[in-house]
Amino acid sequence: MKTKLKTLLLVGTRPNLMKIAPLMKAMEEKGGFEPILVHSGQHYDQNMSQVFFEQLQIPKPDYHLGVGSGKHGEQIAKTLIHFEEVVVKLIPRLIVVVGDVNSTVAGALVGTRYGIKVAHVEAGLRSFNWEMPEEQNRVLTDRLSDFLFTHSPEAEINLLNEGIDSQKIFFVGNIMIDSLVRFRAQARERSTILKRLQLTPGSYSLLTLHRPSNVDTKEGLEKIIRLLRMVQERIKIIYPIHPRTQKSLDKFGLSYYLKDLSNLVLIEPIGYLDFLSLTEKAKLVMTDSGGIQEETTYLNIPCLTLREETERPITVLKGTNTIVGTDEDRILAEIENILNGNPKRGIIPELWDGKTSERIINILLEKFD
Ligand code: UD1
Repeated sequence: MKTKLKTLLLVGTRPNLMKIAPLMKAMEEKGGFEPILVHSGQHYDQNMSQVFFEQLQIPKPDYHLGVGSGKHGEQIAKTLIHFEEVVVKLIPRLIVVVGDVNSTVAGALVGTRYGIKVAHVEAGLRSFNWEMPEEQNRVLTDRLSDFLFTHSPEAEINLLNEGIDSQKIFFVGNIMIDSLVRFRAQARERSTILKRLQLTPGSYSLLTLHRPSNVDTKEGLEKIIRLLRMVQERIKIIYPIHPRTQKSLDKFGLSYYLKDLSNLVLIEPIGYLDFLSLTEKAKLVMTDSGGIQEETTYLNIPCLTLREETERPITVLKGTNTIVGTDEDRILAEIENILNGNPKRGIIPELWDGKTSERIINILLEKFD
C-alpha cells in the first residue's frame, strides 16, 4: 500500500478557516493524504474561531499552539517556536499555509528551514502597499513556498515579476468560493439573522472594518465615524464589529459616537452562515477586508472597498468591487448610484467555481507521486 502524504495544515485567523475547510474535505474525500490540522490560536474567541469550525465542518485541530493576541513580532515568534515543535515531532512531507496572516508566514518559514515542501494557497496577491503587514506576509510566504496556488491570472504575473519559477505556480481558482458554493444553501435554510435583526432583503448595507490603516488611530476612526453618520442617513448600516476596532474605539473614547447613530446597527462578530446570508441580501457592502471583496463579486452584490488599493484587482476589473478609499464625497456618490438602481455589475472570474480544492489536491498528489 502506498504511504499517505503526511501534511500539516496551519490556520491562525478567521479568514483562514474558509480556505482550509474545503481543502480538508477534499483531502478526506480523495484519500492519499494524512492531514494534520494545526491552529496557531491567533484568533481564539468563540465568535472569531470556534463557530467557524462548527459551521464549516472543520475537524477539531490536532494541535493548538495557543499564540493568542500580541504584537506582530510576538505572534510570529510564538508561532515559529510552537509550530517548529510540531514539525520536528511529526516530520511531515508537506506544509500547507493559506492567505496572508502572521501565522501564514511563520508556517512557511519553519517548513523551509526543515527542507519540507510548502504549499501556499492564495499566492501572488499584491496590494503594492509595503506598509501593510499582510503585504509583507504575502511576499515573504511566496518567496518561501514550493507550490504557489493562485486565484487569478494577475497573481501569476505578480509572481513571475518577482522572479519566481513558473514551474512552481499553479492557477487553480479561488478557494474561498469553494466554501461559499458549498454552504450557500445551508445559509439560506439555517440562518435567521435577517429575521432577528428585522431586515428585509435589499433594505440595508453591510459594513466590516478592521484594517490598521482605518481603525488604529484616533483621526482614522473619527473620519470613519463622520462618514458613517452620513451614510446611515441614506441607508441602514449593519455592522458586525471586529475586536480590533472595538478595542480601538474604547481606547480613544469613541464608542459612544458610533452607538449614537440611530440607523447603524452594531452587532458582535457573526458566524459564517449569518454573514453569508447578510451579504447575499444586502443592497451593498462596505468593507476593508480582502475576502469580502471576492464573495461580493461572486454574489453580484455591489462592494465599496474603503481602502486606497486592493490586492484583488480582478474584483474591480471583472466583479462588483469599487475602490473608494475613505473619501466621503466619493462614497456618498457611489451609494447614490446604487440606490438609484445603477449598481456596478460584474461577472464571476475564471475558475471561481467551487472546485479549487479538488484541483489543488490533484496537483499535489501528482507532484508527490
Ligand atoms: C488578522 C490578520 C488580517 C485578517 C484579520 C481577520 C495579520 C497581520 N492580520 O488581523 O490579515 O484580515 O485577522 O480578522 O495576521 N482579538 C480578539 N479575539 C480574537 C482575535 C483577535 O479579541 O479572537 C483581538 C486581539 O486581541 C487584538 C485584535 O483583536 O487586539 C486584533 O487581532 P490580530 O490577530 O492581531 O489581528 P487582526 O486585526 O484580527
